[in-house]
Amino acid sequence: MSDERPAAVIVLAAGAGTRMKSAVPKVLHRIAGRTLLHHVLAAAAEAQPGRIVVVVRHEAELVSAHVQEVLPTALIADQDEIPGTGRAVWSGLAALDAAAAAMITGTLLVTSGDVPLMDGGTLSALAASHRADGSAVTVLTTIVTDPTGYGRIVRDPETGDVARIVEEGDATDDEREITEINTGTYAFDAGALRSALAGVGRANTQGEMYLTDVIAVARASGGAVRAIIIEDSAAAEGINDRVQLSRAGAELNARILERWMLDGVTIVDPATTWIDAGVTLAADVTLLPGTQLHGTTAVAPLATIGPDTTLTDVIVGEGATIVRSHGSGSVIGAGASVGPFSYLRPGTNLGRDGKIGAFVETKNAHIGRGSKVPHLSYVGDATVGEESNIGAATIFVNYDGVTKHHTTVGSHVRIGSDNTLIAPVTIGDGAYTGAGAIIRHDVPAGALAMNSAPQQTTEGWVERRRPGTPSAKAAEAARGAETKHSAATKPEALAPKAQKERAAARRSGAKGES
Ligand code: UD1
Ligand code: MG
Repeated sequence: MSDERPAAVIVLAAGAGTRMKSAVPKVLHRIAGRTLLHHVLAAAAEAQPGRIVVVVRHEAELVSAHVQEVLPTALIADQDEIPGTGRAVWSGLAALDAAAAAMITGTLLVTSGDVPLMDGGTLSALAASHRADGSAVTVLTTIVTDPTGYGRIVRDPETGDVARIVEEGDATDDEREITEINTGTYAFDAGALRSALAGVGRANTQGEMYLTDVIAVARASGGAVRAIIIEDSAAAEGINDRVQLSRAGAELNARILERWMLDGVTIVDPATTWIDAGVTLAADVTLLPGTQLHGTTAVAPLATIGPDTTLTDVIVGEGATIVRSHGSGSVIGAGASVGPFSYLRPGTNLGRDGKIGAFVETKNAHIGRGSKVPHLSYVGDATVGEESNIGAATIFVNYDGVTKHHTTVGSHVRIGSDNTLIAPVTIGDGAYTGAGAIIRHDVPAGALAMNSAPQQTTEGWVERRRPGTPSAKAAEAARGAETKHSAATKPEALAPKAQKERAAARRSGAKGES
């Protein structure tokens, strides 16, 4: 099997990518959460070559550091000041020879760092077909409706063989009409490539050493040149500007979504759903419109995400629901619910059947099984035990202006509404706190802590101190109505049944959901 594999893949990534008009090198732009170069390296690795070499020059340090991160086994080759894809391949070949301490032989694949949809299967098939034919060069081509900007495949009118490739800037008007284009991916016989490169000059509009000139040179010296036309032209499209970047991003996303749907994921609105290449989804996950899943997000069966939810590096447990929320670096337990409108920052770990409700922000917070933070709270640097309830509008005050501190809340705790828990502080199992409490000191297990001041009510204050205001008028009117009402319907005057009804109405009106 091993001699079936290509000897090496040379990935060209030395160009500046001027048409991107960017401070970031072209091959480091991203789609589906990975750089263009990362996508290409993944495809190259799938072809299982003996070696992968990446040719760098523009922002060489940045690009090679990225290669190191993504594929540490890859070789790096530095291109010198001679520009062009031909020189880039020459540099890659030299690095391969140096690493092997010999002239490398066998099949070499060449591809560009700017064709992110090229897949490993296509590269393997290209290498296999090249080897079977014993050609000097096999170029991967495709037919497009708009060939602008690409190298055109010029065929021998008699034999139909590939005669040469002509770049847009060097083409005649007739040649520009050709719709078969060079994808920039090739298989070469290493020896034939080495000798053909020696015959490539720089006599073209860009003054560059074109790799594409190798085709005519190889043919002239008797080598067989073949083309394989691939149907899937989107997979072969190179990215040169931001229009192509966004188009390729949408195309790749559509392919990722289709794969997940065929694997059993319900995606209600593919047009507004974006899933990165590194995300994993189980069967029977449902994604509602406006969902974006990034990084290494992983979702277990029967979870429902969305609408309008963005998750980056989040692990979602079985059957969990996340509605209109934003999360990163977090774990959401099985059966738990989040949202709407919540913000889970890194280090959030919500236990099984737990709840982070509406307008809640969490950070570095472990919230135990069945515990709930239902409304309008901030939980930062905290551990909450199991089955505890954090009342509405509670703030875990973790920052003293210099340092962050930790709050520990036990299990079966009831924190009242509008509490301020000033860290470092510990609240024991089964403790209660009153509404509006400011908790500065530890609360032992089972204790009730409260510290709100007694209420002061000054009757008639608004009419005396804010006379003539709408509030004062409203108060006056209410008092007038009250006097009239109580005169007309004295409780004593009501029949016992009517009295009971009124009391019941008062009770249900005063309950208030929490
Ligand atoms: C190239 C091909 C063209 C083909 C198209 C497919 C040549 C001369 N032209 O054109 O026939 O249709 O790709 O997408 O090969 N690079 C280097 N060193 C350099 C110059 C470029 O490593 O000196 C790298 C770039 O980083 C890029 C790749 O080679 O990854 C292709 O370069 P690019 O400038 O995009 O070539 P195209 O004009 O697209
Ligand atoms: Mg290109």
